[in-house]
Amino acid sequence: MPYTVPKLSDFSAPALDAAMRELLSALDQESAAVVSENDWKAFRDRWMARKNGILTQINDLWLKGAPGPSKRDVGQLVNALRLLVEDRVPKARGNFDTFEDVVGHPTLRGSVGEVIALKRKRTAMVASVDITLPGIRRPIGAEHPVIKTMNEIVGVFRNLGYSVEEGPEIETDYYNFEALNFPPNHPARDTQDTLFIAGQESKPLRDRLLLRTHTSPVQIHTMQKMKPPVRVVCPGKVHRNDALDATHSPIFHQVEGLAVDTNITFCDLKGTLDHAMKALFGSSVKTRFYPSFFPFTEPSADVQISCIFCDGKGVRDGAPCRNCKASGWIELLGCGMVDPNVYGFVDYDPARLSGFAFGMGVERIAILKYGVDDIELFFQGDVRFLEQFG
Ligand code: PHE
Repeated sequence: MPYTVPKLSDFSAPALDAAMRELLSALDQESAAVVSENDWKAFRDRWMARKNGILTQINDLWLKGAPGPSKRDVGQLVNALRLLVEDRVPKARGNFDTFEDVVGHPTLRGSVGEVIALKRKRTAMVASVDITLPGIRRPIGAEHPVIKTMNEIVGVFRNLGYSVEEGPEIETDYYNFEALNFPPNHPARDTQDTLFIAGQESKPLRDRLLLRTHTSPVQIHTMQKMKPPVRVVCPGKVHRNDALDATHSPIFHQVEGLAVDTNITFCDLKGTLDHAMKALFGSSVKTRFYPSFFPFTEPSADVQISCIFCDGKGVRDGAPCRNCKASGWIELLGCGMVDPNVYGFVDYDPARLSGFAFGMGVERIAILKYGVDDIELFFQGDVRFLEQFG
């Protein structure tokens, strides 16, 4: 007697178990009896036909007929049986998929050993998967140009023996300003349009939270936990309340550098940054140090590189170079010798130690290196832009 799906009146666990066992034994017997393509088609339709296949019947007779409290259990059982049948029906083809079928297959001709191995594999796997089709290629993604540039900058300094330090993006006033020699209310604070966290007024000024405006606070964290000699680079994200335009974004990235030891001089600073700029932009690039001011370095300088678009000539294709405003130089980063006042905040001995620090904007360097004309492209997540850096 061929199996027929019983109508259930008892939905208790033992009754469901018995119904399941009966169905599975029928599935076993019928799948073993498949010996030809025609058998298999009939077998498939009997179990899987949408209209009145056994799967549809158990759905109608068991699940739809189940009383409310049993619905969940019956639903799980029906789902599990569906998965099982969907797995077993294609496999039944392996019963008659003969040696000759495989040997005769134009693309699969091979040694007897290979054919047997292949046949085992086909029966073991789900036989409906056509292993001769090309695979699905998944897009693997690409490094974001900002991260790529940041890694490149960090790599240049790692090769010089620097290690990497990171610090928090939400900082206190103390680390972002005070310990870097920006006294409260000092006008130098105005150069860093700061985004403050709201509701901090009840705290003492130095404990109030803000989004760090530069990576320089990592200098302080580093010197607090490390004894000299120190040689670190600190990559990270920073925020300023700048209006968005082609070269300014309220969110951007910097790489900070700090070297403190005995006998470090401005010559070391110049040599280090000259080397770094040549490593990043090519060996023909020249550097120039222009007097500047930062509260935490003394003396301070802005570093300019010879314009990479006009080779420092200020003229390109007979017209004034737009990239360097015809000056031949492009301003790229800030630096200087660590101000002795800063050592006072971290218990370093200014009589014995000296050092230099520098900070560079990652987007600015990426814009120059890759010829990007709008900083916003880095933050819009447009795959057509990002793909180009893969
Ligand atoms: N933190 C400074 C800025 O963001 C750059 C800087 C870093 C200058 C280190 C000197 C030394 O403007």
